[in-house]
Amino acid sequence: MKSKSTVILLFIFFLLTSKNLSPQSAKTIEQRVDSVLALMTQEEKIGQLVQFTGDWDTGTHSTEPKAGKRELVSEGKIGSFLNIFGADMTRGLQKIAVEKSRLKIPLIFGLDVIHGFRTTFPVPIAEASSWEPALVEKSARMQAIEVSASGINWTFNPMVDIARDPRWGRIVEGSGEDPVLGAAMAVARVKGYQGNDLSANNTIAACLKHFAGYGGAEGGRDYNTVDFSERTFREVYLKPFKAAVDAGAATLMASFNEIGGVPSSANHQLLTKILRDEWKFDGFVVSDWNSIGELIPHGVARDLKQAAELALNAGLDMDMESNAYTKHLSELLAEGKVSGKTLDESVRRILRIKFRLGLFDDPFKYCDAEREKKTILSKEMKDAAHEVATKAIVLLKNENGFLPLNKETKKIAVIGPLANSTADPLGPWNQQGDAKDVVSVLQGIKNKCGDKAKILYEEGCSIAGKETDGFGKAIQAAKEADVVVLVVGESLDMSGEARARATLDLPGVQEELAKEIYKTGKPIVAVLMNGRPLTINWLNEHAAAILETWFLGIRTGDAIADVLFGDVNPSGKLPVTFPKYVGQVPMYYNHKNTGRPYDPKNNYTSYYADYDNSPLYPFGYGLSYTKFVYDDLKLSSKKISKTESLKISIEVKNNGSYDGEEVVQLYIRDLVGSVTRPVKELKSFQKIFLKKDETKKVEFTLTDEDLKFYNLDMNFVSEPGMFKVFVGTNSVECLEDEFELIN
Ligand code: GLC
Repeated sequence: MKSKSTVILLFIFFLLTSKNLSPQSAKTIEQRVDSVLALMTQEEKIGQLVQFTGDWDTGTHSTEPKAGKRELVSEGKIGSFLNIFGADMTRGLQKIAVEKSRLKIPLIFGLDVIHGFRTTFPVPIAEASSWEPALVEKSARMQAIEVSASGINWTFNPMVDIARDPRWGRIVEGSGEDPVLGAAMAVARVKGYQGNDLSANNTIAACLKHFAGYGGAEGGRDYNTVDFSERTFREVYLKPFKAAVDAGAATLMASFNEIGGVPSSANHQLLTKILRDEWKFDGFVVSDWNSIGELIPHGVARDLKQAAELALNAGLDMDMESNAYTKHLSELLAEGKVSGKTLDESVRRILRIKFRLGLFDDPFKYCDAEREKKTILSKEMKDAAHEVATKAIVLLKNENGFLPLNKETKKIAVIGPLANSTADPLGPWNQQGDAKDVVSVLQGIKNKCGDKAKILYEEGCSIAGKETDGFGKAIQAAKEADVVVLVVGESLDMSGEARARATLDLPGVQEELAKEIYKTGKPIVAVLMNGRPLTINWLNEHAAAILETWFLGIRTGDAIADVLFGDVNPSGKLPVTFPKYVGQVPMYYNHKNTGRPYDPKNNYTSYYADYDNSPLYPFGYGLSYTKFVYDDLKLSSKKISKTESLKISIEVKNNGSYDGEEVVQLYIRDLVGSVTRPVKELKSFQKIFLKKDETKKVEFTLTDEDLKFYNLDMNFVSEPGMFKVFVGTNSVECLEDEFELIN
């Protein structure tokens, strides 16, 4: 016989959580969370902290839970699944949770929607190349609309890791080397995924990953040791996470790596002191795949039980796939090694997000097979992917205005191992993207030219193989053509997770193929398809033009053809530095000056004696078919106090023969500080459209907040002194001026 108080509590619970009670009239979410928590057994509480994957072996577009998992759901022992999607599949599991389990707590379904679900958008580093937060927000919005129609209410994105080492394969998943650009992109994606109402059926919870410092892996080797000063950690790697937490991100994912000896999954300083005490984050943290279990090989846990103890006490709320919580939390609670209060706090955070998602009000609102059919791969989705792709393309070289190609060109040879690929343009982490939906570069050019031009195609070689037997036909095609479009780069699985490379050269014999094509004397337009900066020195010397296209997703070919033939004037800018040699890495624009800055006239300075020390292409670099001229940099004052703001203006003129967009970039340099400061720091950027001959005055405002850094005592302050201001088209070509900050 249930005690009287339990009956009353159950009644209150159902009153508060019943779906016909509008959330607005119901008590606050916190009270609803407390009501549920008060009814939960310890076992049910532990169940909320457990996440299991679907069974990929089913190989279909909708995965099944593994054997025995449905029973655990009915017993309230699982709180979440990942890699299970499909309106019907998720509905079936949700039904078990909310109809068979004792307390009917809904499941939350997570999935890696990194750049699309079924409609594949450009990879994140490509989207970052647009320098258009509004466009990136739109991309995330469309991705959320599509995947939420398939039962998913949580994506493990945006990846917010700053990457300064292109050997690291996951550079493709992020927004590059700069914390300000990275923060803008992370915030845009959080807004896009979560929208204005997280309880809507087409918004999903974002997940900032990988918290934190993952991109700082030594040697660019994935999962490797990370060890840098707290100042660098906070100013570079944490800055975008803080911005995205402030933008309301619902969840974070702990990273695999250690930071200075402490793995993130057991890092109380990171997961509790910084994230919760300092930043006041009230969502939940999920581990990365088995990252709790990996505390054992890290050498901080002797077994899975100790790993569970360290993780939960550090503030890691949900266990992805390690079984540590499901197996050991009961014992740890009984032994007092984990407190009931700690357990309750983690459960509360997860219930809070489930309430905010509206899952208690309507657990099935994401499981609508009709909406799924209408939404997936819709024309609107594909058109959005096409729009984003055209804006992500970076023009790296255009000798004598070789591009755009004349639409009357009679014979075009499209050559290269990626020219007709429909799988590689999907890029890594393409989720349910399907090569059969992709427009290849070759197809895109054919779509553009129709029968007006003769299109010759030869693969020439494979991406990574050593065979050169395809060279002959490729050379023949080049000889017959007026121009060669050479599509080279990396396969989709040469970047992404666990895909570090020790070189940055074009793989295989692709450069050899380019050299043979070059001997024919026909002009080469190189189209790069890659997940990281590549050391393409030879192409930079010999190609007439070079487009950086990354992996552009479902409409790759059409977007590239739009740019090749001038229907779109490329406007992308690099979010990462391209080194000339892998030996220069790590190489990034916002570096320190050192006591012996490089001076070509002085041997005893910081440089490489054997090669040129400049980058191949600097951070923020990207050309246009038109010419933008910067002039008349003006500062509102040469001296400001900490309470004043500084207005900066510059005239930008479109001096060429095409309308176009330009990313105007604002950098500063703090010349003297209580600690050393970078030689440049991006502080703001504006992407503007200028018609031919049009001039615009672009204005920025700097405040004291923009000048702050962690000083000698690790206080986040600005310091009086001289500053330089740089405004320009990339991190190297700028007009400059200076001002003084006084107390
Ligand atoms: C992976 C990745 C992470 C991803 C997770 C779930 O190992 O590190 O980015 O979200 O597992 O697939």
